[in-house]
Parts: sequence; C-alpha cells; structure tokens
Amino acid sequence: MIGTPRTHVAECESTQLLLGPDDPEGAIATTDHQTAGRGRLGRRWIEAPGTSVLVSALLRPPVERRAPELSLVAAVAVALALEEPTGFAAQIKWPNDVLLEGRKVAGILAELKGGAVVLGIGINVNQAADELPEGARPEAASLRSLDGVVRDREAVLSSLLHHLDRLYAEWLTGGLAALHLELAARDFLHGRRVRTEAATGVAVGIDQEGRLEIETKSGVILVESGEVLLAERDL
Ligand code: BTN
Repeated sequence: MIGTPRTHVAECESTQLLLGPDDPEGAIATTDHQTAGRGRLGRRWIEAPGTSVLVSALLRPPVERRAPELSLVAAVAVALALEEPTGFAAQIKWPNDVLLEGRKVAGILAELKGGAVVLGIGINVNQAADELPEGARPEAASLRSLDGVVRDREAVLSSLLHHLDRLYAEWLTGGLAALHLELAARDFLHGRRVRTEAATGVAVGIDQEGRLEIETKSGVILVESGEVLLAERDL
C-alpha cells in the first residue's frame, strides 16, 4: 500500500532525502516546505511554505519492469487526482510534467537509491499567482491560481495516493500497456513539433515502454529520456 508508513516533517531540504533502501515499499515522506526541493535535470523545485503537496514514495519495482516508466505511471495518477476536484482536463507533457490549462501544476522526479526508486511528486495547490516561480517553461500554475479555490492539501494527497497505489499495481501486472489509454488520452505533445537532443520532428505518441515517438524526415525516432522543447515556442 503506497502511503504506509508515512513520515511527515514541517520542513526539510527535500523529501527525496527522507527515504532510503531500508524503508519498506510504499513508505512515503511528506513535508510542508522544502528548502532545497529538487527538480529534474538538476533544477530546483521551489514552493511557498504550506501551499503544496510535496511527497516522495519508496518503490521497489521488479527487474522486469522499466523504472523510467514510473514517472508516467505517477503522471497519470496526478492527472486523475487533479481532474476530479477541478473539472479541468489534465495533460501530461512527457516525461514528467502535469499541466492544466497548458500550465505546469505538478512535476515528478524518479531517482534510483540503492536498488530502490524514490518517486517524488510536487503539486502546486494553494499558491497565489504571485507566489509561483516566474519565467518557467511551461509556465507554472497552482490549482488556486487557475480556479480561485483554496483546497485541503491532505485531500489532494489522499486522492493522489489512492490513484498511485491502484495504477502502480496495474503497472506491476501489465506494464505501461495497462494504463496506456489513460496516458495517450492526455498526451500534451501529441501532434506538436518538438526538439530534443536526439531528434527534431513531430511527436506522434508515447510507446508501450514509455518512450516518446518523434516522426522525423528519416523515420520515427524513439526518445528514452531528456528534455523536450516545443519547436514553435519554447514552452
Ligand atoms: C520536476 O518537475 O522537475 C520535478 C519536480 C519534483 C518535485 C518533487 S516535490 C517532492 C519531491 N522532493 C523533491 O525535492 N522533489 C520532488
């Protein structure tokens, strides 16, 4: 069960540092504020204290599962947890962003630690518009900045854990194929011109192993990881 045991601290550097290989699978760490929140590609994850869902979960997927797919499993769980209370249609920007109304509301960071995966999720819930980081691409938003509603962060966390637990179990049994429909339906990059280190072209989907499919002049290229920029506009 993802969510038990739970460690909660008022403040920490990063919830990613509160879990390690000795913790049981499903253990989570949460906080009200991170002083050194970590994003992908060495970036920072910055939030105003008491505004966000900040959670890391310790998972031990078996060797036959591709750990990088976990970011997408988590992205679908976040999308479902955000759609229910807001009524917005969530989109997933491969590989780890969840967008509402074209703005990034949540990010996911999967890190390997001693054979386990520490899966970190940050959701902007109650930040006022002026508390959000400026100049981010995609632009940042919180649930509150989009619809004006101040929410109980515990309720958002509880919904997230419910979906994550279910989807993780489905993924363990059936791989990404088990949730591919839910993923593909929310694929923000689909049909857009994109640029990555490996290829420039039109994103045409996410394959059953979680790789981004880019149609280029020389055929479809599968991208395993990295940053995706929109070719027409650096979102
Ligand atoms: C990203 O969008 O680049 C990933 C952001 C991940 C942020 C979460 S917040 C909880 C956990 N602790 C961290 O330091 N990072 C992740």
